[in-house]
Amino acid sequence: MDLKALIRDIPDFPKQGIVFRDITTLLSDAEGLRYTIDTLKEKCLSANLSPDYIVGMESRGFLFGAPLAYQLNAGFVPVRKPGKLPAAVHKVEYELEYGTDSLEIHQDALEDHHNVLIVDDLMATGGTAKATAELLEKIGCNVLGFAFIIELKALEGRKKLPDVPIITLIEY
Ligand code: PRP
Ligand code: ADE
Repeated sequence: MDLKALIRDIPDFPKQGIVFRDITTLLSDAEGLRYTIDTLKEKCLSANLSPDYIVGMESRGFLFGAPLAYQLNAGFVPVRKPGKLPAAVHKVEYELEYGTDSLEIHQDALEDHHNVLIVDDLMATGGTAKATAELLEKIGCNVLGFAFIIELKALEGRKKLPDVPIITLIEY
């Protein structure tokens, strides 16, 4: 299936010069959504990635991370923007392609013996994924790999990430 054809390009959003890769048009396509989750699952199995938990980043990481967790019989743990999680959190600052922010995870969501796969819709600079890996380092759990629907190759986000498998479905 041509997944790229289901991604909508929006020039100059949210800032001049950014081409926003809009996954809402993929999500609303029933066959496209099923194919996306099924393909992520197959690639995880082929790479021998059997996580105890999937960690997904707010907000678009939730949309793909939770159904993939279901398919892999894993739990799902959210990483959220600041002030959203109700219990005690670990916090880390990070840079976006278009700004800076911080991310939080519940301190008691995972333990140091857990194997984790980090899932998001898109890797741009890799700042969000790197920050998430740093949160997991604070807990001491084992990052098995990363999975993204989209990779923006020119931004070289991979270079920021630890040396573990990185699964992607679409490249720009
Ligand atoms: C987007 C995207 C990734 C991140 C990628 O999220 O969903 O999480 O940016 O950029 P990076 O590789 O340069 O860090 P955003 O922070 O815009 O939040 P949203 O999912 O809530 O829209
Ligand atoms: N997150 C960071 N960069 C992005 C882009 N170009 N399109 C969609 N989401 C993004």
